Amino acid sequence: MVNPPALPSHQTIHTDGLTPLEQELALASFGPLAHDPTQTGAVLVSEDASERAAREIGAIDAISEALAADAAGHGGPDEAEARPAPYVPPPNYDPANPHLVSWNAHLRGVRDRNALALPLRGCGRLTRAAGLVLEAVGLRLAVGSEVMIELPQGSSLPMCEAEVVGFAGDKLFLMPTTEVAGLLPGARVWPLESAPIADPMAGAKRLPVGWGMLGRVVDASGRPLDGLGPLATDIDAPLTAPTINPLNREPIRHVLDVGVRAINALLTVGRGQRMGLFAGSGVGKSVLLGTMARATSAEVIVIGLIGERGREVKEFIEQILGEDGLARSVVVAAPADVSPLLRMQAATYTTSLAEYFRDQGKHVLLLMDSLTRYAMAQREIALAIGEPPATKGYPPSVFAKLPALVERTGNGPEGGGSITAFYTVLTEGDDQQDPIADSARAILDGHIVLSRTLAEAGHYPAIDIEASISRAMTALIDERHLNQTRALKQMLSRYQRNRDLINVGAYVSGRDAVLDRAIALYPRIEAFLQQGFRETANYDQSVEMLGQLIGART
Ligand SMILES: Nc1ncnc2c1ncn2[C@@H]1O[C@H](COP(=O)(O)OP(=O)(O)OP(=O)(O)O)[C@@H](O)[C@H]1O
Ligand SMILES: [Mg+2]
Repeated sequence: MVNPPALPSHQTIHTDGLTPLEQELALASFGPLAHDPTQTGAVLVSEDASERAAREIGAIDAISEALAADAAGHGGPDEAEARPAPYVPPPNYDPANPHLVSWNAHLRGVRDRNALALPLRGCGRLTRAAGLVLEAVGLRLAVGSEVMIELPQGSSLPMCEAEVVGFAGDKLFLMPTTEVAGLLPGARVWPLESAPIADPMAGAKRLPVGWGMLGRVVDASGRPLDGLGPLATDIDAPLTAPTINPLNREPIRHVLDVGVRAINALLTVGRGQRMGLFAGSGVGKSVLLGTMARATSAEVIVIGLIGERGREVKEFIEQILGEDGLARSVVVAAPADVSPLLRMQAATYTTSLAEYFRDQGKHVLLLMDSLTRYAMAQREIALAIGEPPATKGYPPSVFAKLPALVERTGNGPEGGGSITAFYTVLTEGDDQQDPIADSARAILDGHIVLSRTLAEAGHYPAIDIEASISRAMTALIDERHLNQTRALKQMLSRYQRNRDLINVGAYVSGRDAVLDRAIALYPRIEAFLQQGFRETANYDQSVEMLGQLIGART
């Protein structure tokens, strides 16, 4: 065993060739008896170094034994003896010793400076910025982590925020969420927070939720946009949620009144149903969503305005939704000019908000305008980090993201709340075969198609009843209502097919009884299907009117 180096004893201190500072230190450690070798204190410190080492090893052994006894669960009465005694200053300790005073002051200074120092944080460096994506090296972060990148002095912001969207080898792909003008090559990249490993959800981004958000308009990060001051809530929730076991979901059993006659009567929607609103631009999607938000029987409305024109956000809130609608709504707005990452985040945040209210046992109506812009944002990100495009330029990840978002809505466990969702889907050039429309149609529980022909004829809401379907409807309504719906659809379809003949006067009545009745009732059918956007029609009224229409004499 190698003996520890011998400590200077009182006898050797002046003869060992120590520097003056080392001599001072050694003397200071001897206390007030430093200059009197005859006293016991001096004997104590001049103890042989090997003896002292043996004594210390003995103490360590005693502690280890005590810990082992603790772990084995039998502390016993000698437990207290095994514990190291609390520190007692030696009898010769003199706090007034000038050496100790000076060293203590020095140590205090070091401690104070330490307290001021910023914690050491590792940082990476920016190596590439091309298109939407930045690349950094020198950091090991999980996908979804947030980072800050330094901007040069004089920039409008001190830092730029970004999120890790992927990696390749040592390189991290970052997608900025704020303005990046001024970024320099080699800029430092700091992780915003490191996620604790013990709780996987603890590292997930959390945004504000809660009842204090009703009546408020916020951006994708939960910051108020309405100038009404801070949000009156201190609850937050992660953006992601664990999936619901499909067998634990309550089936769609109860009707949700949406306040629109044509939908209530002919395309009845149930609580927890997910519907698509398929239409080209300018056909009346936003107005229809606004009507539903104002007139629905749902207790809470969560509205996501994703990737639409910035001007429309204000217009939607003030003119379409109105004060009454807004009072029980939360609006999350991420217009087209914000980063694609924030547009996607706004969609997931809207869903998180709806989930919060559902988990409080409420029946929530979620309106998202639009699902297509959400898919487009994911396309932008995926293409920028090098995913190959597949159908119509959409990479495969887009078709995985859509069901992941939509499946979070719907009914919760039996007896709990529900999220009924309406997602608008843009059909480019009124093309129903668009890949996003196709994919959405497959994952949603029904679709309402808005027709440009009807809108152009001033028929609002421009719902194409023949092309629309609510898949949960048969489980929600009685036989009589179902038969009336069928009868009306039959008449409508017969009329549409023969429209040209009727218009040119080529149809002679008496040949087809259904068509004859359709022709006679058509003005009333049209009036039934149309609804001014300030007008509301509750479920019972809608069904009663349908009954009257079908039972009417011609
Ligand atoms: N129920 C209605 N009654 C009267 N006019 C309506 C109605 N619904 C829509 N409109 C008319 O249609 C226009 C476009 O409607 P809206 O903004 O809802 O379309 P959109 O499909 O949301 O368009 P975009 O794709 O551009 O967002 C409105 O400005 C309004 O003039
Ligand atoms: Mg719109």
